[in-house]
Amino acid sequence: MNSTTALGSPSSMPSLYDRLAPLYDVVYGLGLQPGRRRAMAAMAVRAGERVLEVGIGTGLGALTYPAGVSVVGIDLSAAMLRRAAHRFRRPPQAHVALARMDAGALALPDDTFDAVYAPYMVNVVPDPVAVGRELRRVCRPGGRVVLLNHFAGAGAASPVVDRLAGRIAARLGDVDWDIDLGTFLAGSGLAALSVERVNFAGVSTLVVCRVPSRTLHPPCPSKEVS
Ligand SMILES: C[S@@+](CC[C@H](N)C(=O)[O-])C[C@H]1O[C@@H](n2cnc3c(N)ncnc32)[C@H](O)[C@@H]1O
Repeated sequence: MNSTTALGSPSSMPSLYDRLAPLYDVVYGLGLQPGRRRAMAAMAVRAGERVLEVGIGTGLGALTYPAGVSVVGIDLSAAMLRRAAHRFRRPPQAHVALARMDAGALALPDDTFDAVYAPYMVNVVPDPVAVGRELRRVCRPGGRVVLLNHFAGAGAASPVVDRLAGRIAARLGDVDWDIDLGTFLAGSGLAALSVERVNFAGVSTLVVCRVPSRTLHPPCPSKEVS
């Protein structure tokens, strides 16, 4: 896709992120950027691949996609998407197409993307496992789902900083800080290839999953016709 477009309109109700949008980059920009950079490296996207970025926000995580990659970025907040569209108005990011969509019910076909990336968004949705299943569904078998998030049970490097960051995040937004990584992966039908602590004091977790091949059912035994 060669242009930045805004499509779809799941609900006209302003979200928390519509209100946060003007301040978002100041509050969540630099501090969370090391994780975004590390996720991009771990995702190892190549020219010719199709990528879905879920909860793209103002586009802070999408600044370094290599040339030749086709990127679709979705988000529920129209205000966040407007900021992303402004950021991507010129090359080299002009190949990012934007759409307003709910991550819990993606209006996208099965097996569409080589990589599906969800930076800092699984904590902020009401049903994380439903979102995890959607990420898996739209990723092709053998593709990768990359999660950058706070997960409980992923071995915080500093429990004190972890608790403090959780309190701050909960004050700033509607965040479920304690999603258990194992429960989330099992419910979503995903298995982690790697789990890595990132950002200051290892507060965030980068999880790279490979989507397994679809189960092949053996053909039904044919009935003997006499
Ligand atoms: C903490 S921000 C992360 C933004 C961006 N990924 C980043 O790295 O800065 C969470 C984003 O998820 C979006 N979001 C929340 N619920 C969503 C949903 N159900 N479907 C799609 N996006 C959603 C918010 O509008 C917001 O832009």
